[in-house]
Amino acid sequence: MTLLQVNNLSIAFGGLRAVDDFSLEIEKGELYGLIGPNGAGKTTVFNLLTGVYKPNEGIIRLDGEDITRKNTIEINHAGIARTFQNIRLFHQMSVIDNVKVGLTERFKYSGIEGVLHVGRYKAMEKAMDEEAMKLLKVFDLDSERDVLASNLPYGKQRKLEIARAMATSPKLLLLDEPAAGMNPNETAELMDTIALVRKEFDMTILLIEHDMKLVSGICEKLTVLNFGRVLKQGETKEVLDDPEVIKAYLGED
Ligand SMILES: Nc1ncnc2c1ncn2[C@@H]1O[C@H](COP(=O)(O)OP(=O)(O)OP(=O)(O)O)[C@@H](O)[C@H]1O
Ligand SMILES: [Mg+2]
Repeated sequence: MTLLQVNNLSIAFGGLRAVDDFSLEIEKGELYGLIGPNGAGKTTVFNLLTGVYKPNEGIIRLDGEDITRKNTIEINHAGIARTFQNIRLFHQMSVIDNVKVGLTERFKYSGIEGVLHVGRYKAMEKAMDEEAMKLLKVFDLDSERDVLASNLPYGKQRKLEIARAMATSPKLLLLDEPAAGMNPNETAELMDTIALVRKEFDMTILLIEHDMKLVSGICEKLTVLNFGRVLKQGETKEVLDDPEVIKAYLGED
């Protein structure tokens, strides 16, 4: 079953067609990679998928629902969560409070809202604490629940960012260069975390990444962007062996 269907998406900034006639289909449960040289338009695709930018043309459907014109909050409720190329956390808040920020939105829209109306604020706090701890356990961050986010080592900050995104209970998780700035040990651990998220939550994941070891190790399918356009899409191995892809991207370093 198709979870994400993107048809002919385009956006221009001034004269620059940052994303140009971009189409993509992701099946439920897939781990899909989006790769390409610096400035190819990868993050712009994420910004379009999450409503940060509105496309000039094209349609985005999530689970059959047209989300093209929705704003970032509506799209998060529809089921897309993301992490950012440069980590975005509430650095002066504790680990658990960062996750609870993600949970708040979800709880507002669930039955727990009723609890709030009858004034049982404490019951909601308790439910959120429990839910947050469950998530932190999955990410092996439960023993750091009261640590300030800024005091976590880099690899754990990345994990926390993913945990917070997962707290909104998405159908699709977008990760923008999660391994950027990581050492090989942290990258290996990150690969395990991504595999775990997939298994524990049955998650569909779209991942932007430059680390080819990570990409070829975990992605089933790839799309290569180049100058805003799709250069190639398909099974990971077939894409990475393609001479045009090697020339445009892989051969560069
Ligand atoms: N808001 C904006 N205004 C103007 N130009 C933009 C804007 N956002 C992105 N661009 C331009 O669009 C192009 C694609 O940028 P984008 O950040 O999507 O690339 P990327 O593939 O994510 O690159 P990297 O691998 O370096 O992160 C770049 O030329 C960038 O300068
Ligand atoms: Mg980018």
